[in-house]
Amino acid sequence: MTGREIRADSAIGSVLSLLTCPHCSAGLAVDGAEICCPNGHRFDPARQGYLNLSRRALNGDSADMVSARVDFLETDSYDPLRSALVDASISSASSPAAIVDIGVGTGYYLSALLDAAPTAVGVGIDASKAAARRAARAHPRAGVVVADAWQRLPVADAAASLVTSVFSPRNPAEFRRIIADDGLLVVVIPTDRHLAELVERLALLQVDREKTRRLADGMAGYFDPIDTIPVDYTVALDHAAVRALVRMGPSARHITPDRLGEAVAALPEPFEVTVSTSVTRWRPHP
Ligand SMILES: C[S@@+](CC[C@H](N)C(=O)[O-])C[C@H]1O[C@@H](n2cnc3c(N)ncnc32)[C@H](O)[C@@H]1O
Ligand SMILES: [Zn+2]
Repeated sequence: MTGREIRADSAIGSVLSLLTCPHCSAGLAVDGAEICCPNGHRFDPARQGYLNLSRRALNGDSADMVSARVDFLETDSYDPLRSALVDASISSASSPAAIVDIGVGTGYYLSALLDAAPTAVGVGIDASKAAARRAARAHPRAGVVVADAWQRLPVADAAASLVTSVFSPRNPAEFRRIIADDGLLVVVIPTDRHLAELVERLALLQVDREKTRRLADGMAGYFDPIDTIPVDYTVALDHAAVRALVRMGPSARHITPDRLGEAVAALPEPFEVTVSTSVTRWRPHP
């Protein structure tokens, strides 16, 4: 044994009962400085506080995309969206006990959900180690796991009372397996007007116009729609915020920093951008 003992009241310790072994799906327990399953599979939590439960190397957001996301979210431009997500997910009548946020990113949304649900614990899942590192620092009640949302999730059956996915992968079959029958799924997707001014001026990748229909098609048989809350507003961004917004998203891979710098310098400052998203709520299909 090398590392420090994992405390039961640490963030990972407190969500361990919700997690499962990625190799055999058995439960996990603390064994000194390691985490193990009854079948001898062992996992070593990273120094930065997250637990890697992936079976192979994954391609999540790069360290540069994650640091751009931190920079952009610090501008508060997505605060209205975050508030709408929290309002849609948590009410005084139904406070979740266990929240699982898929594609947790920097932990920006999960930490707000946990603040609004003071007795809940949260599991943040992301394919990116850079994101997991950030998210592990986001909230004392958030345990963060590196795992692939397209594979079987390392989460026990019916363990989650609230599952969220904000601009992140959706795996309806797995979401249905991990959510309690009376749980709630909240998915945030961009509409085809999201960041329209930037898409036009910087030739960014466009949101698929069929996204809403594809979301509904994918959920069929696993979740039934409750409602969709449109969240639309504009934000005035300075050039640094525009650069961060591009660098944190899928277009980052398609534009060099020089080309981005030039294109952004040619924009008015501040530059007004439309935020247009749908907060969609789903109940588990019986
Ligand atoms: C657009 S970002 C959204 C992050 C966060 N929800 C937010 O809105 O700030 C998508 C996130 O999903 C993660 N991701 C991408 N593919 C994934 C996969 N197959 N499994 C788990 N996470 C994945 C990325 O690393 C990234 O952090
Ligand atoms: Zn195992």
